[in-house]
Amino acid sequence: MSDAPRTLWLLHGPNLDRLGRREPEVYGRQTLAEIDAACADLASSLGFALEARQSAHEGALIDWLHEAADAGAAGIVLNPAGYTHTSVALRDAITAIDVPVVEVHLSNVQAREPFRHVSLTAAACAGTIAGLGAEGYLAALRYLAARAG
Ligand code: DQA
Repeated sequence: MSDAPRTLWLLHGPNLDRLGRREPEVYGRQTLAEIDAACADLASSLGFALEARQSAHEGALIDWLHEAADAGAAGIVLNPAGYTHTSVALRDAITAIDVPVVEVHLSNVQAREPFRHVSLTAAACAGTIAGLGAEGYLAALRYLAARAG
């Protein structure tokens, strides 16, 4: 058995690379790099490594879900961003893997435009956290770490 820490994955969808300057009144002022650093610190304190990635491309997110599963990820935190509301393929990718996935949204999508009230991906996930800002990522990581034991 290897002593290497197991890995929690953090996948960010389109436009989240612009956090900090993208509608800060909705998404906050933290940059993605700052969020990833806070998540890596937390994962490390919980005894896990963190693999954080961002892409605007649906196919990249799908490939990374498969890659995380094939690599034996302990859990995946996913903010599908706009693909939340449109992507059957992303939902199918979550269903196709055995790793628990927690969906996170920075904003409270239920309090926004009606098209954001529907998530095609949420039902395939272990749970969803929305509206807690970057704290939502930390809560999701704590849950997945506890679940992985
Ligand atoms: C988001 C909410 C989505 O509706 C939106 O398309 C995003 C970000 C959030 O984190 O609040 O890009 O996922």
